[in-house]
Amino acid sequence: MSNVFAKDLLVGKVAFVTGGGSGIGAGLARMLAAQGCKVALLGRTKEKLDAVAAHITETGGVAKVFPADVRKYDDVAAAVTGCVAEFGRLDVVVNSAAGNFLSPAASLSANGFRTVVDIDLCGTFNVSRAAFEHLAKTGGSIVSITATQAAVPTPLQCHAGAAKAGIEKLTRDLALEWGRSGVRVNAVAPGPIEGTEGMARLAPGDMPDALRKRVPLGRYGTIDEVCDAVLFLVSPAGNYVTGATLLIDGGTSLLGAGPFLDLMG
Ligand code: NAP
Ligand code: COA
Repeated sequence: MSNVFAKDLLVGKVAFVTGGGSGIGAGLARMLAAQGCKVALLGRTKEKLDAVAAHITETGGVAKVFPADVRKYDDVAAAVTGCVAEFGRLDVVVNSAAGNFLSPAASLSANGFRTVVDIDLCGTFNVSRAAFEHLAKTGGSIVSITATQAAVPTPLQCHAGAAKAGIEKLTRDLALEWGRSGVRVNAVAPGPIEGTEGMARLAPGDMPDALRKRVPLGRYGTIDEVCDAVLFLVSPAGNYVTGATLLIDGGTSLLGAGPFLDLMG
């Protein structure tokens, strides 16, 4: 856990984190709990959510799991309602659930493309829509985790790139519509983050070493660094920020598609 912020910034608040059972989402859930939030965790695999909730509880926090698929609106809405029933309010929503894999566009099935858009983009809408009325009561905010693929053409990931670009546009539209209700909507776009499922899937074989050397800052990012960006946005430090996408990529996107061209063979 990074120590760059004051402690207890979010005491009394409630957070809802999708994809909270692993990787960046789990790190975000732990960070929000450490800052004082009661945390609801949503994902499809109950065992993964239980493990993160147990860690939060063991370290003095409060967490409850809501196994569900972000593609199913009624289940998402029930989870949000359950979170508010359990914890009494909702202040922070983090959309981190996503799916991705490497596939050439020419051989990607229509269902493969649709599946990733459904999880990433439609899932983000579903959760944001279900949470809105509760966030409006508390002046809460949403942060969605996108990726540099949203803006940088990236081989073998047209499905994820389209989905993440859609989330960034949705972020601006929701920020515009929901600003008068006091709900801020932002995104964080990480570059390569070490020790994650995303990197295991998207930079296989020898690629991690080659890619790392090309990152302008010369290294991969950490889950803690993504947490710090999200904490800035959901804390009072971010009170006048809405509709923004904050790049946390060590400068990787400055190079365009270059670092990823090895994927094309
Ligand atoms: P991860 O550990 O695989 O996290 C994705 C989470 O989403 C999993 O816990 C997964 O749990 C959940 N999920 C997937 N489909 C779901 C669905 N239909 N409904 C509900 N939950 C679902 O991968 P990660 O690398 O930490 O990625 C986290 C986020 O960061 C993603 O949005 C990703 O695009 C973004 N990102 C990652 C990197 C990176 O370097 N890793 C870079 C840029 C952006 P279940 O399978 O149990 O549902
Ligand atoms: N290459 C090409 N197509 C693939 C694929 C791959 N590696 N993996 C899945 N697909 C296709 C499937 O073939 C299927 O299409 P089809 O019906 O035309 O055959 C479609 O995608 C849906 O696959 P399915 O396994 O039924 O989807 P799911 O809903 O069970 O799982 C995924 C969703 C595919 C995104 C799965 O990888 C997942 O659950 N990922 C979550 C974790 C993750 O991706 N983390 C990294 C985040 S950056």
